[in-house]
Amino acid sequence: PLNIAILASGSGSNAQAMIDKAAAGVLDVNICCIVCNRPGAGVIERARKAGVTCVVLDHEEFADRESYDREVVQTLQEHGTQLVVLAGYMRMLSTAFLDAFSGRVINIHPALLPSFPGVHGGVDACEYGVKISGCTVHFVEEKMDSGPVIIQAAVPVNPDEEVDDLMQRIHAMEHRIYPQAIQWFAQNRINVWGREVHVAPGKAKTVAPD
Ligand code: GAR
Repeated sequence: PLNIAILASGSGSNAQAMIDKAAAGVLDVNICCIVCNRPGAGVIERARKAGVTCVVLDHEEFADRESYDREVVQTLQEHGTQLVVLAGYMRMLSTAFLDAFSGRVINIHPALLPSFPGVHGGVDACEYGVKISGCTVHFVEEKMDSGPVIIQAAVPVNPDEEVDDLMQRIHAMEHRIYPQAIQWFAQNRINVWGREVHVAPGKAKTVAPD
């Protein structure tokens, strides 16, 4: 199976969805390692419970982004990473990182890109008053939250809905579409022409519905 590495900074609920779906046999990947830049982040405990290798590299212990990214790239290469999956990884990637894994870095964002990029994109969309929000899985480019879109899902905003409730529903949707995008990649079904992403048809099991 495809070796994927997950990069995360926070609670790791997306990483958990991948762990669970891989264990259930509906996502055909091997999670070769998780890299976390924040000591104490929830994802570390999730990895431990699941028996997945987790490497904690505290970015504050490095002089600059380049030296930090060099260490991350080396760690990923040592574990045989074939696809880099950003799941709440709140750091920009350097050019050297993206060059090392060209066309092999994907990200999820809790809004319908290109609207509402950024660290608080999900909350920004809600506070703007959009009637439909959602989430986006995309290939990563140097600019934050930009790159060819692989899959998006719409989440309609309920009247008078609290931000937290909406974010929770978007999160639940993320846990469905991210494993699906990874499965497509693992099955070699994704083709990118410029900004257009095409997914080749396949008879494979559907990952999205729980
Ligand atoms: C997710 O909602 C993800 O979309 C977001 O961080 C959260 C991580 O949650 N990422 C971004 O906002 C990227 N700009 P998790 O740690 O529970 O998977």
